[in-house]
Order: sequence, then structure tokens, then C-alpha cells
Amino acid sequence: MSESDGANIRLSITIVLIGIVIYIIFSFSEECCNDNWILLDEKGLKKDLTQKLFGQHIASDVILKAVVGTLRGPVPKKPLTLSLHGTSGTGKTFVSQLIAKNLYKNGMSSQYVHVFVSTLHFPHLKLIHQYQNDLQTWIRGNVTICPRSMFIFDEMDKMHPGLINAIKPFLDYTTQVNNVDYRQAIFIFLSNTGGDKINEFTLGVLMNGMERESIKLNQLEEELSLMVFNNENNGFWQTCLIQANLIDYFIPFLPLEFKHVMRCVKAELESRGIINNNILFTITSQMEYYPKEEKVFSMKGCKTVPSKVNLVVN
Ligand SMILES: *[C@@H]1O[C@H](CO)[C@@H](O)[C@H](O)[C@H]1NC(C)=O
Repeated sequence: MSESDGANIRLSITIVLIGIVIYIIFSFSEECCNDNWILLDEKGLKKDLTQKLFGQHIASDVILKAVVGTLRGPVPKKPLTLSLHGTSGTGKTFVSQLIAKNLYKNGMSSQYVHVFVSTLHFPHLKLIHQYQNDLQTWIRGNVTICPRSMFIFDEMDKMHPGLINAIKPFLDYTTQVNNVDYRQAIFIFLSNTGGDKINEFTLGVLMNGMERESIKLNQLEEELSLMVFNNENNGFWQTCLIQANLIDYFIPFLPLEFKHVMRCVKAELESRGIINNNILFTITSQMEYYPKEEKVFSMKGCKTVPSKVNLVVN
């Protein structure tokens, strides 16, 4: 072996090594559809659901089981579809964020997480055909790029039936639609549908001197499905998706009580480095509660907490 052969070999090895290093750096900095970027943090999700979500014993339990069960097991027969129900401020959006945070390294800012808000993204009735096409193209396109994509649909109860029909084929048991496999995708639907019924039921339970924690999922499921089949409250989308058995889990969010709002306020204050029981109590008391007499539940849940904190703290 001549001296120049040795030099060549060293040069080649160096180039290969540099290539490997560049590849490693690149694959860690650019989000990809692989386990480096998408991996369920089971412990993290459990911790978040028990420590950051307040007053939702059913939701935390069902969501943990649903998400862990689906993502840890073998590839499911259909995409995971969760339908979250409850009045505003009870934590539906927050829970979707917790799921995203513990599944995607980039959380909600991951390019594989897509949020659609009916009134924001699909506001004009006359553009419905355009929206249908767009939505189908986007779902297909994004799942083609990454099978483990997540789609969150907010304000489902305000969604045009035509759009619901556009989503429907993707949720079904067919393993492939036009050569794209949707089984690893996750669909989360948020709505107020059934919220009033859930609140009524919860009020009844509390008025009977029982704990909200005594409420079982099947009690509320019964209420919800009754309502769906009576087609109240823009229940169309549910009728459409439920009758076809496309929703895997119905997840009720209970109305929040004073003590839960207090925990939201406390968390918000702490995130700003403020620990002050006076302020905590003042803000919590300033939220509005109903029914008029009993003042049991917060009208807006925890939704307006950050702005209330802003007002008082500044
Ligand atoms: C993915 O979805 C987004 C909307 O969230 C859309 O703008 C984009 O065009 C889609 N990508 C593909 C490849 O279809």
C-alpha cells in the first residue's frame, strides 16, 4: 500500500464521518415523522392529566386509557377518534394540548398537529365545496407525509354537515383510502354538544349530596346518546358519526366548581411567580357562578382566568 493510498483512505473515512455527524445534527434539528420526534410520553401524559387538568376525573381516566391503549398496542383497525363534550372553559382544548405535548416533541407547534376551528377556517356557506375539497386534500396530504398526524376540530357543533361528510371516510374501518393508510392518525373533536345536559346531571348529583367523583362515564354516556338520538342542539354531526360507529370515545367534561377555578387561578399566578392567597381568593371570587341561588359552577370554567389575572396583577 502506497502512502497516497493511505491518505486516500483516511480522507474517505473523514468524509464519511463528517457525513454521519451532519446527518445526526440534521435529524435532530429538523422535525421528522419518526420516533425522535413522535413518541408517547406515557408518564408525562399521566402526570399532566392528574396534576394540570382540574375537576375532570372521567376525562383524565378515559383519555389516558384511550391514548396509551391505542399508541402502545399494535396498529389499530381505524384511526383513534375522541369526541370531547362540555361547556366552555372546562378543559377540552387544554386536554388536546396535553395530548399533543406528550406525543410530539414540538407539541402543538409540531407540523404534524393540525387545528381547525369551524367559524375561523370554514366561515362562508357559499365556499363549502371549496372547503370540502381543501379539507380532504389536506388530510390526505398530511397523513401521506406522516401517518401519525393529529387533527383537532374545534366547534364541531358549528360545523357544516357537508364538511362532516368530507371527514367521514377518513375515520372509517377501511385500512386504506386511495392507497393512504389512515389507521395511525388521531382525530379529536371538540364541541359544546351535550354540555348543558352534563351540567344539569352534575348539579343533580351535587344537590343530592354526592361527590362529583361518584359520577361514572356510562351515566353521562346515556344522557349524551339520548340527546343525540333526539337530535337536539345541532346534534347532526354526532348522529352522523355515531350511527356509523366512527367515534371511539365520548368524553364528558364536567362543569367546574369554585375549588377547581381556584386551582386554575393558583396555577396561573404561580406561572407568573406570584404566591398570594389574598389575590388568589379575590380573583376566584370575581368569576361568575351559577345557578343564581346556589352559585355552584363557574360560568366560563377556567377560560377567562388568565385575563382576570392580568387585570388584577397589573
Ligand atoms: C397539511 O395541512 C395544512 C393545514 O393544517 C395545509 O395547509 C397543508 O397544505 C397540508 N399539507 C398537505 C401536504 O396537504
